[in-house]
Amino acid sequence: MRQFFAIIGHPVAHSLSPRFQQAAFDAEGIEAAYLPFDIPPDRLSQSLAALRILGVSGFNVTLPHKEALTGEVDRISERAREIGAVNTVVSREGEWFGENTDGPGFLLALDRFLEESRLPFPSHVLIFGAGGSARAVLWALSRRPVSGICLVNRTGGRGEAILDLPFLARIPNRKASALDDPSWKSWLAQAPSPLLVNTLSLRAFEKASLLFPPLDGVPLSGTVMFDLSYAAGESGLKTSGKTPFLRMGDRFDTPCQNGLGMLLAQGALAFELWTGKKAPTERMEEILREATGQKTLWKSL
Ligand SMILES: NC(=O)c1ccc[n+]([C@@H]2O[C@H](COP(=O)([O-])OP(=O)(O)OC[C@H]3O[C@@H](n4cnc5c(N)ncnc54)[C@H](OP(=O)(O)O)[C@@H]3O)[C@@H](O)[C@H]2O)c1
Repeated sequence: MRQFFAIIGHPVAHSLSPRFQQAAFDAEGIEAAYLPFDIPPDRLSQSLAALRILGVSGFNVTLPHKEALTGEVDRISERAREIGAVNTVVSREGEWFGENTDGPGFLLALDRFLEESRLPFPSHVLIFGAGGSARAVLWALSRRPVSGICLVNRTGGRGEAILDLPFLARIPNRKASALDDPSWKSWLAQAPSPLLVNTLSLRAFEKASLLFPPLDGVPLSGTVMFDLSYAAGESGLKTSGKTPFLRMGDRFDTPCQNGLGMLLAQGALAFELWTGKKAPTERMEEILREATGQKTLWKSL
C-alpha cells in the first residue's frame, strides 16, 4: 500500500521539503506521497488527531510547532528531549516516536563546510537568536571542542535561561546578551577567529524596531559566517545563496554558507528514520540546487 508522509507548519507553502523528500522516495522506488499541511497553532491538536486516523507513516515538523510536538508524541528521543524540540516523527506500530534531526543536520552541514574551506572548528561561536533552532545549534556545538559561546537575542532573559541547559555545561565560557546591548560586540572583537551563526529569520524583523542584520559597522575580518536561512530576501530563491546576513561579510571576504546544506542533512536523517534505508542524498541535493539556483551547498558562497 502507498505510504503517506507529511510536513506540518504555519506557514508551510515556502518549504522545499515536499520537493526533495518526494524525489527521495521516488528515487528509492518507495510507493509514498509526501504532502505539506498548513496548520495554525490553534488547530494543532485536531490536526494531529486527523493524521493519526489517516495513518501517517511519518512527518516533519516546522515553525511554530517543534516545541509543542515534544508533548504530543508517545515516545521521544534523548536528543529531542535535551534540545526541547521535535522536527521528525515516525510512526512505529501505531506509536509516534519524536526525534530532532536539526541538531545533527546542522553539525553535518557545518563540519562539511569547514572541511571544504580548510578551516579548523572555531573555538568561539556567537549565535543570533534563542529559539528552537538556536537550541539545536547549541546541542551540536556542545559535541565539538568549543570553549566560548555568546548568545545574542532580542529578549536577553531567554538567552540567559538557555545557557543553563545541562548539555552546555561542557562549554566553559558562556555569555548571553540582548541584541541592543553592545557587550556582544566587545565579546566578538576579543574572540579568536569566531564563527557567527544566525538563527533569526528576516521575516521576523519585518515589523520590528531593531534593524536586521544587526552587523552594521561591526568589523568581521577573521570571522566565519553560517546562516540557517536560505531564502535570500526580496529577490526570492533564485540567487547565489547569499542571505542579507551573509552579505554583511562581503567587505571582509568572510567564508560563509547558508542553511541549504543543513536542510538537506536534517531531511536525509529523517528519511533514514522513516525508511531504514540510506537516503539518496545526491538526488536530494540536485533537487535543492535546481529549486534555488544555488551552485554549492558545501563550499563557501
Ligand atoms: N536550514 C534549516 O534546515 C533550518 C532548520 C531549522 C530552522 N531554520 C530556520 O531558522 C529560523 C529560526 O527558527 P526557530 O525554530 O529558531 O524559530 P523560533 O523558535 O520562532 O525563534 C525565533 C527567534 O527569532 C527572534 N525574533 C522573532 N521576532 C523577532 C523580532 N521582531 N525582532 C527580533 N528578534 C525576533 C526570537 O527572539 P525572542 O526570544 O526575543 O522572541 C527568537 O530568538 C527560521 O528562519 C527557520 O526557517 C532552518
